[in-house]
Amino acid sequence: MSDKQKSVLDRILTLEIVRVTEAAAVAAARLRGQGDEKSADQVAVDAMRSELNRLPIDGKVVIGEGERDEAPMLYIGEEVGTKDGPKVDIALDPLEGTTICAKNQPNSLAVIALAEGGSLLYAPDVYMDKIAIGPGYPEGLIDLDAKPGDNLARLAEAKGCKVNELTACILDRPRHAELIAAVRKAGAAIRLIGDGDVAGVIHTTDPDETGIDIYFGTGGAPEGVLAAAALRCIGGQMQGRLLLDTPEKVERASKMGIADPNKKYSMIEMAQGDVLFAATGVTDGNMLSGVKFGNGEIHTHTVVMRSASGTVREIRARHQNIAKFN
Ligand code: FBP
Repeated sequence: MSDKQKSVLDRILTLEIVRVTEAAAVAAARLRGQGDEKSADQVAVDAMRSELNRLPIDGKVVIGEGERDEAPMLYIGEEVGTKDGPKVDIALDPLEGTTICAKNQPNSLAVIALAEGGSLLYAPDVYMDKIAIGPGYPEGLIDLDAKPGDNLARLAEAKGCKVNELTACILDRPRHAELIAAVRKAGAAIRLIGDGDVAGVIHTTDPDETGIDIYFGTGGAPEGVLAAAALRCIGGQMQGRLLLDTPEKVERASKMGIADPNKKYSMIEMAQGDVLFAATGVTDGNMLSGVKFGNGEIHTHTVVMRSASGTVREIRARHQNIAKFN
């Protein structure tokens, strides 16, 4: 396949992956607020998998629902697609924020990233320390190893505001007590979120819309790679470090090709090459509306982007053929 053909195919794929996240989001949205995380996740997985298998790709899930023995579908290593197309790595989370969806709270998403084979960090399902800001700042402005107050001071200076005019997004977890205290001491506001740090990171890219300037804290490593893929496309800065705090985790990571357990990954090291990213809102959120049902139609709201062009599209779809979602 020539480069030109490949590029055309990739451009088509940018739109094709929207169907994949739409299908997962609609399936999960039918179970919003039912208090049943597991079922909502399962229907999203089923829907995403069947749409993925229609894509003209030779795809391999590298960030998925878990290891093969614990996840029957969309497990790490599962091959998806028609095989009639480019080799791609896939990172996915059919329902990011299962608890948010079960409680019908803001910002649960269906998410996918595609990249050229071998381009995504094969992160085990452990925690990752993360820091992220949006586009438009000098490279190297933030550092995962700097004190929160120092990162905030640098960000405030670059943004041309005071630290107490910044807002940091942090997952509301006991493990973040020290971080939260440090950010408050520095004077910044904190938006504590119950779940969903892929959205938390993406929200840094549009502070005017979301009110979030910086993301700090420890969340899932798979979610870290997905968020890095999104930022690769929109622009921004992110660093992450896997939390490999037991010999078992170090061993697991090493089997996945991670030689240095303490490595600080840059955004580009987590998601290299040409990356496509799509997210569809399941519940209403700061950037994306949730799925709406009624009058014989289903409405979805998706953001889809591609790193090679830097194009970010928002697609509000009205589906009249609702049978395809059943
Ligand atoms: P799920 O969708 O798998 O429930 O993940 C939600 C989430 O909040 C992620 O966004 C975040 O990275 C991770 O869980 C944090 O993990 P924990 O809930 O263990 O603190």
